[in-house]
Amino acid sequence: MTGSEAAPPAIDTSRPHPARVYDWWLGGKDNYPVDEALARRILAVDGTVVRGARANRRFMHRAVRAAAEAGLRQFLDIGTGIPTEPNLHQVAQGIAPESKIVYADNDPIVLRHAEALLHSTAEGSTTYVHADVRDPDTILRLASETLDFTRPVALSLVALTHYLSDEPDRDDAYGLLKRYVSKLAAGSFLILSQVTPDLSPEAVERAADQFRRSGTPFFPRSLADFSRFFDGLEFLGPGVIPVSGWRPEPEDVAAQAEGIVPVYAGVARKP
Ligand SMILES: C[S@@+](CC[C@H](N)C(=O)[O-])C[C@H]1O[C@@H](n2cnc3c(N)ncnc32)[C@H](O)[C@@H]1O
Repeated sequence: MTGSEAAPPAIDTSRPHPARVYDWWLGGKDNYPVDEALARRILAVDGTVVRGARANRRFMHRAVRAAAEAGLRQFLDIGTGIPTEPNLHQVAQGIAPESKIVYADNDPIVLRHAEALLHSTAEGSTTYVHADVRDPDTILRLASETLDFTRPVALSLVALTHYLSDEPDRDDAYGLLKRYVSKLAAGSFLILSQVTPDLSPEAVERAADQFRRSGTPFFPRSLADFSRFFDGLEFLGPGVIPVSGWRPEPEDVAAQAEGIVPVYAGVARKP
């Protein structure tokens, strides 16, 4: 099942899209020459982006496993991206087949892949919503057809908030996150990662500049600014930390040895 408010726009191959650029870094095939060109330009100014995309994806797996192992059975993942196995529902339903997942993204190419995201176990369910994160009313309304918001939900925005401005008259990123979190029951989790200027400021600024020139606003955040998204919540594990350091597994320890990637991650619980 998919939910959408309007017919999705056609796939625009004349300008790069973040989901498709990220797909190229992950070695996927669902990107166009214009995406590959930007992905390569960014790679040329920040040599960590391929490792960063992989490390970010592995963080999503670990964070979802942590939520499932803590007993959560409902997941709302916004800014899902083009399917790359294992996808979130495969991780969650691999631990608890009855888990319910709602994916949301605003890119028509992700909608086109929704079927691939919707393979569920008999007990669980997976739903896709074509919508913009900046429209919480629509996402929460359509998600509530699958999820019970009186019970805990793991809300994930993994590598998404760096596309959102803080400014109240633009995206109001902090206000937006608060609106989502305010709808969550006690015991819910917030799972976030995003690019930071703290660890390699010049390379990240050059990469951000490439995104902006291509028409995608880009907002790296410092440790303090990223941590603000978790205000009022209780951190799990190490708190906000470079992405491969969040409850690392042997593969992440090996990745860290290759050098740090400029992405922060954190997981927190609503008290
Ligand atoms: C870098 S990808 C991350 C994909 C996945 N969460 C992961 O970490 O592997 C960012 C995703 O956010 C989506 N996105 C960007 N802006 C969005 C918005 N305003 N509303 C919904 N999704 C958005 C893009 O289409 C893309 O799929």
